[in-house]
Amino acid sequence: MEDWLSWMDELSCNDFVIVDDFLDAPLISTIRQFFLSHLDSFSKAGVGALDNHVIRSDIRGDLTYWLDRKRDSDLDVFWLLLDETIHIYNRYCFLGLSGYEFHLACYPKGGHYEKHVDQFNKRNNRTISMVIYLNKDWKKGDGGELELYLKDGNTMLVEPLEARCVMFKSADLPHRVLTSNIARYSLTGWLLQQPAALGQFLG
Ligand code: OGA
Ligand code: NI
Repeated sequence: MEDWLSWMDELSCNDFVIVDDFLDAPLISTIRQFFLSHLDSFSKAGVGALDNHVIRSDIRGDLTYWLDRKRDSDLDVFWLLLDETIHIYNRYCFLGLSGYEFHLACYPKGGHYEKHVDQFNKRNNRTISMVIYLNKDWKKGDGGELELYLKDGNTMLVEPLEARCVMFKSADLPHRVLTSNIARYSLTGWLLQQPAALGQFLG
């Protein structure tokens, strides 16, 4: 819990926090196994929500697989951890989170994602972005770093190290994914202030 308090402090001061070894080795291995056994079901990710949704590999090259808690019960340990995470955010940050959406993402070799923010124009319920990296033995030269555009005007490169979790304020922190030179695996999601089905009608 003390860990969480300092992470939330960092997040509120800096708009982001990086937590190494957020998931333990057995859970990472469960998720990676799940990931690899579902690779056939991934599809090209788009940009924009609802009727603005288009596939633009020049902007975003990853393939995604949207998770469903009921269907994907192999990931139950992760879902429970997520419940706890949301509970803690609500209790200590008063964020009023009431839902989430998560997908697995695979950037094939050569894939990248240009600078963006994670909130859609017409759908502003994404509050906290969470990215958890799943590649074993990532090393310099493999690419696929996450670049954060900080509010002080500086940028920061985050290496996608196994079990590292980056959390940031979805509305406030522009970021991009540099070209990956290997197949890059992550579990990415958003903590929502309303269920997705309600949020998408906002604005
Ligand atoms: C995203 C995103 C960052 C990453 O999916 O919106 O910015 O490091 N991902 O994978
Ligand atoms: Ni993003």
